[in-house]
Formats: sequence, C-alpha cells, structure tokens
Amino acid sequence: MYNILKHAHSGLRWIVLALLIAAIIVAFKKMSNKDTDHQKQPFLFNLIGIHIQTLIGLILYFISPKVSFAEGFMKVSELRFYAVEHISMMIIAAIIITIGYSKGKRQDAPQRYKTLFIFNLIGLIIILASIPWPFRGLGAGWF
Ligand code: HEM
Repeated sequence: MYNILKHAHSGLRWIVLALLIAAIIVAFKKMSNKDTDHQKQPFLFNLIGIHIQTLIGLILYFISPKVSFAEGFMKVSELRFYAVEHISMMIIAAIIITIGYSKGKRQDAPQRYKTLFIFNLIGLIIILASIPWPFRGLGAGWF
C-alpha cells in the first residue's frame, strides 16, 4: 500500500505539473485577447489534479517512514523537509490555486484569466520549489 501510494504520488507530480503549465498557457493566451467564450476544462482538470495529489500526499504523511518527529528532527534537513516544509508549502500552493479558480469563476473575461494566470503561476513556483527533486538529496526519485 505504501509503495503504491508513494509511486503514484511521485508519478502524478508530472501530470499535476503538466496540467498546471497548460492552465497557465491557456490563461495567458485568453487574458491577452478579447474573445469571451470561457474555457473551463483546463482549469477544472488542474484543480482536480492538485486536489488528488494533495489527498495522496496527506495519506502518505501518516504512513511514510520519511515523516518522523524524532528528537532533533528539525535539525536534520531531510526530516525537516518531509515533516514540515513539503506539506506546508504544498498546502499553501493548493489553497492559492483553489482560491484562483473560485475567484476567476466569479469574474468576467479578460479579468478572469488574469486572476487564473497569476494564481496558478504563483502555485507553480511554490510547487516547483517544494518538490524533493533528486538533485536536492532528500532521498526521492524522478518517478
Ligand atoms: C499537502 C500536500 C502534500 C503532502 C502532505 C505530501 C506528502 C508527501 C510525503 C509524506 C512524501 C514522502 C513519501 C515517501 O517517500 O515516503 C512525499 C513525497 C513526494 N511528494 Fe508530496 N505531498 C504533497 C503534495 C505534493 C505535490 C503537490 C507534489 C507535486 C506536484 C508532491 C510531490 C512529491 C514527490 C515528487 C515526492 C517524492 C516521492 C519519491 O520518493 O519519489 N507532493 N510527499
């Protein structure tokens, strides 16, 4: 169960990043032109992707051997990362993307797409900075 969730979480990162980048590109294209027909799907799929990844992450948080609150864990970068940094930054990113989606929904074009562009871009930057990329030496892989 743990290994399946861990690899699902690790692999889903690529789908979440692809959906997020697609949403940012669509928002950018739409915010710079006047046509008003609303494209809902890219932003809805993006939201669903980040929520599923967050849910799997939260389950992992309670079963992963990498999450430990042993004595002095805050002084050990890998323990501090999985116990505090990764979960808090990813929850912040998920909240920002969710706020952007619901705020955008209540606005008209082109303002709606400016909102979706800005909130998803901020979300992307936080997520990229909070992923345990293999070159960060946090014991995580590419998949
Ligand atoms: C609240 C949200 C999240 C929580 C609580 C969470 C929790 C975790 C935990 C506990 C691990 C360690 C799993 C292990 O190796 O034992 C982990 C690993 C990881 N997380 Fe998250 N995560 C969250 C969101 C995300 C998001 C949004 C992404 C990327 C889009 C992400 C990408 C990863 C990656 C790539 C790993 C490394 C997996 C590996 O070892 O290959 N996480 N996460």
